[in-house]
Amino acid sequence: MNVPFLNLSAQYETIKNELLPEVEKVLVNGHYVLGKNVEELENEVATLCNVKYGIGVNSGSDALTLALKAIGIQAGDEVITTPFTYIAPAESIYQMGAKIVFCDIDSKTFNIDPREVAKKITQNTRAIIPVHLFGQASAIDELMSIANKTNIKIVEDCAQAIGATYKGKPVGSYGIIGCISFYPTKNLGAAGDGGMVVSNDPEVAKILRMLRVHGISKRYHHDLHGYNSRLDELQAAILRVKIKHLQRWNERRAKIAKRYTLGLSKLPLECPYIAPENKHVFHVYAILTDRRDELLEFLSRHNIPTIIYYPKPLHLQKVYEDMGWKEGDFPIAESISKRILPLPMYPELTDEQVDYVIETIRSFFNISD
Ligand SMILES: Cc1ncc(COP(=O)(O)O)c(C=O)c1O
Repeated sequence: MNVPFLNLSAQYETIKNELLPEVEKVLVNGHYVLGKNVEELENEVATLCNVKYGIGVNSGSDALTLALKAIGIQAGDEVITTPFTYIAPAESIYQMGAKIVFCDIDSKTFNIDPREVAKKITQNTRAIIPVHLFGQASAIDELMSIANKTNIKIVEDCAQAIGATYKGKPVGSYGIIGCISFYPTKNLGAAGDGGMVVSNDPEVAKILRMLRVHGISKRYHHDLHGYNSRLDELQAAILRVKIKHLQRWNERRAKIAKRYTLGLSKLPLECPYIAPENKHVFHVYAILTDRRDELLEFLSRHNIPTIIYYPKPLHLQKVYEDMGWKEGDFPIAESISKRILPLPMYPELTDEQVDYVIETIRSFFNISD
């Protein structure tokens, strides 16, 4: 049996009949950027996130950059984030000319550890970017209580977690801004790049709307230093079809996760931990094992290719060589990056495929029923 690590065309096949007429309508209509579909999608995503405003942008990375710009982050400011994630949040801090302050992660959720965050607060700290990694919310209450004491803003990176909740409320509704990615592999993925910022703050929303179109207040009147970060109608039309399926897809992901955990539970490895306050949407299902590289090789020989997220924490990346971080600075992030192994995870996986992955891992550890 073959189990592709991802299979976006399988999802396309399931919704092709709904999707193609919507794509055609956009092409015929001739309004291709920031139109009715983008507006409707903004409302739909805002509703999903239980916030007042959604502002469509070009990518999840842009969402973060515009978010930091909108809350006034600038040179000399410090922004705290995690070293165990995709590079986008760290990049957005750098782009503001601000200082990236990493802190170590929780060994069970892989999210930023509030106790470590507290140690990194200085008088220059202006914001915290918790990343809700792999589809599970960070410890938001603890982070909010640190931030509220010192008037620090929280910008949630929800790129991997659309639909996830913390204490029953959606991620993206806690911080001043939530940042979403519609990169094709995400739980709600476009057929290209796309992203959104969500917020309850009318002033912030107004600034974000200006920033995404070169800082304009009205056509050819530029009041702010802005960007070109517009979301196009084709992506929005596709996302509007897909958003109707998101809850069902996320539920299927959770079922697959349960099946993996049940099948793998007696093996010498760790399955994902779900914090009691969280609804996890399993963008990624990752196990931890000391024999990670051997197992990865074994799975690949059995037609189960996998990709490591993340093989190298951000503080050890070449691009940050001159920042002074070194091996040992964030021991938990470093240890997880050596032991983590994501398994295939998408709603279209069949139970047979999931069982094949489980059996293959069991045979690697030489365990049979
Ligand atoms: C945690 C996280 N933040 C931000 C991004 C950036 O999103 P995009 O690829 O849409 O720019 C990604 C992923 O791609 C991500 O995984």
